[in-house]
Amino acid sequence: MLKEHLSEAVAAVRALSDLTPEIALVLGSGLGPLADAIEGVEIPYRDIPHFPVSTAPGHDGVLLLGTLFGRRVVAMRGRVHMYEGYSAAEVTFPIRLMAALGARTAVFTNAAGGIGGGFEVGDLAVIEDHLSLPVVCGGDPLRGPNDDSLGARFVSMNQAYDPALLSLARSLDPSMRAGVYAHVVGPSFEPPALIRLLQAAGCSLVGMSTVPEVIVARHAGMKVLAISAVTNLAVGDIASSHITNEDEVWEAVKIVQPKLLALMERLLPRVPAV
Ligand code: 6GU
Repeated sequence: MLKEHLSEAVAAVRALSDLTPEIALVLGSGLGPLADAIEGVEIPYRDIPHFPVSTAPGHDGVLLLGTLFGRRVVAMRGRVHMYEGYSAAEVTFPIRLMAALGARTAVFTNAAGGIGGGFEVGDLAVIEDHLSLPVVCGGDPLRGPNDDSLGARFVSMNQAYDPALLSLARSLDPSMRAGVYAHVVGPSFEPPALIRLLQAAGCSLVGMSTVPEVIVARHAGMKVLAISAVTNLAVGDIASSHITNEDEVWEAVKIVQPKLLALMERLLPRVPAV
């Protein structure tokens, strides 16, 4: 069934563009404006069969196929999240589609809370590992029957974040630290007790996306790079009166946008052809 859904989605895209992308780009919360630099076609998610539609603020819901900094890309301006009510399988359908269109490398971006590792608001961070509470608890996007033609039954998460892409990114922006991304479903932000648990487990970033997409990208054999924009510092102290809110996330995203654009401009031309 997944295969049929995929071929219907591929056919809808192919009716509008014959570009074979090398790189899949997912532009997270408020990071969609990076897509303005892409020259190509824009396809609203609602025009693609079986594609989940974004309902989250700051997520437009447009798939772009075109060229960006000299590379052929397919980009999602806006993503869908499990907190919108989608299953892990549903939120990762777009990743399968981008792999089916030909992308061999996936670059993910997201907005994340900093919970350690010395991160500050406005930093870019490169994800080197993850800890997903939903995946651990049965929300793995690969749960269920496996289609062997799409990928292996069991997928290793060792070096899921491609070491060569990770060091390339850090060499281009040495101020960028590596972090471990904790994934929660949301939409409620983490209570202080959970922040302390995640910190004790060695996590330094927390957010509501990316991990299911990374798992499916690895299942599809794509190389993965993931970059977080640190938009706020999550609080693990119950005595703190600080309230994590959306507005601080949007403010910080504005500061990070030009940094991310500058990084992409240098990074994309150097991503090895696969
Ligand atoms: Cl603090 N938590 C989560 N779950 N997602 C976020 C965030 C925090 N900041 C930005 N996105």
